[in-house]
Amino acid sequence: MPIMKDVIYVLDFGSQYSHLITRRIRELGVFAELVPPDISLAKLKESKGIIFSGGPQNLSDSNALRVNKKIYILGIPILGICYGMQLTAFELGGKVKAGAHREYGSTEVNIKKTTGIFRGLSAKQMTWMSHGDQVVKMPKGFIKTAGSHNCPIAGMENQLKRIYCLQFHPEVVHTKNGTKILRNFIKICKVKKTWSMKDFIAKSIVKIKKDVGKEKVICALSGGVDSSVAATMVHRAIGKNLTCIYVDTGLMRAGETEKLKKMFSNHLHMNFKIIHAEEQFLKKLKGITDPEKKRKTIGELFIRIFEKEARKLGKKKDRIKYLVQGTLYTDAVTSGVSIGGKHTASIKSHHNVGGLPEKMNLKLIEPLRELYKDEVRQIGRMLGLHKSVTERQPFPGPGLGVRIIGEVNKEKADTLRHADAIVCEEIEKNGVKVQQYFAVLPNMRSVGVQGDARTYGHPIIIRALTSKELLTVDWARLPHELLAKISTRITNEVKGINRVVYDITSKPPGTVEWE
Ligand code: XMP
Repeated sequence: MPIMKDVIYVLDFGSQYSHLITRRIRELGVFAELVPPDISLAKLKESKGIIFSGGPQNLSDSNALRVNKKIYILGIPILGICYGMQLTAFELGGKVKAGAHREYGSTEVNIKKTTGIFRGLSAKQMTWMSHGDQVVKMPKGFIKTAGSHNCPIAGMENQLKRIYCLQFHPEVVHTKNGTKILRNFIKICKVKKTWSMKDFIAKSIVKIKKDVGKEKVICALSGGVDSSVAATMVHRAIGKNLTCIYVDTGLMRAGETEKLKKMFSNHLHMNFKIIHAEEQFLKKLKGITDPEKKRKTIGELFIRIFEKEARKLGKKKDRIKYLVQGTLYTDAVTSGVSIGGKHTASIKSHHNVGGLPEKMNLKLIEPLRELYKDEVRQIGRMLGLHKSVTERQPFPGPGLGVRIIGEVNKEKADTLRHADAIVCEEIEKNGVKVQQYFAVLPNMRSVGVQGDARTYGHPIIIRALTSKELLTVDWARLPHELLAKISTRITNEVKGINRVVYDITSKPPGTVEWE
């Protein structure tokens, strides 16, 4: 059930850009939700506009996703994008031809009609195409609105029925005036711009207060953006009835625990309980080299410790009934992966607390379930969280444990922590724009010479990444002087390190973490 009345539904046919469409609409102040194509007509009738996403399938496939044809006579404006356009043409009696080859990338499109969906645009537009099939005959009642060299019908519409179709993707930044096109669609829908973070916070706080009443609530606060913002929001609603538990596994980055204590305990006056568990974690990790086993071991111990602390708390005061989790919209809605975007509720598995609610008989509070990451950051800022939290880069639940290759021990954790602090400090001081940056300690040794003596030490790997629309991850082209500075500092300042290398692998084929 949408929490907002004025909603645009995005029917997900499995495109990698489906979430992006939803995000773009929200950025324009209108609430949008991603829904599966077999959503009921009754539910669709609640909406003010419907967008069909692209999708990887071909209409000629027998299992190609379709829609209930009655959707076209609901009288609600429809925007069909890529596969959404082909599907519309096909369902309404037009013709779609399998493309001889795939058209992919920036494409110039000629706009035939600069009104309606293309209002305010000039006749030539740079757009982003990604398709094989294309519409070769429009359904009755449609007129052509755009065309390109390889795709003569790149846009079509039936103004009377308020159905608009585009072969290109207005949601990606490579379509230069994509936002304008989406804004025009919003105008056509006559949908109210009711999506504001200020309202969302106010409504959520009222709801949490009402749901929770005087009950006690706990939260496993990791210091990551999601759990920090979720906890802060719940704290605004119920104050001291919330207790946050932070488990220091000994695998945190330099200064992390102190920083969080200052923020949540001193500054925001939250019940913030720190559990120092370094020894327990290192003991459990002894001898384990397999990455998955390391993750499991850390995850299980985390749950055990958290559970124990929660029980202690529950004994002292009233029984705890609720657990706060920073589940985001993207965690809750699996899209693209499962073609058709079936909603699957999933507890954030990487955050180590999966399994807790059932085991401890706790009800969940998930105040961020409707939100995308950038919206969560915005809310964090509005709730007064420091930039170091809201703009924080992703950090794996198992912490440095996945960045120490092979067995984890105290010495390695300290070494990596020190090298990582230098990488972070220098990159932040330089101001270069990168998404994620950190150091990795591999389980190999290297020969070097320091002073007059030959050394047999360890290398450090630097990983720094940029990301476009969060869809692709590329290694960052860091300035050579910056890399030189980091290298000199690490080899001079970190004991046992005699070599620094830079990872120049994108994702794919690499992953972000080395594990
Ligand atoms: P990979 O290595 O799969 O990482 O390319 C993708 C992104 O996820 C982050 N990551 C995690 N984040 N808990 C998290 O909250 C985890 O267990 C975890 N493991 C990887 C990683 O840093 C990258 O940003």
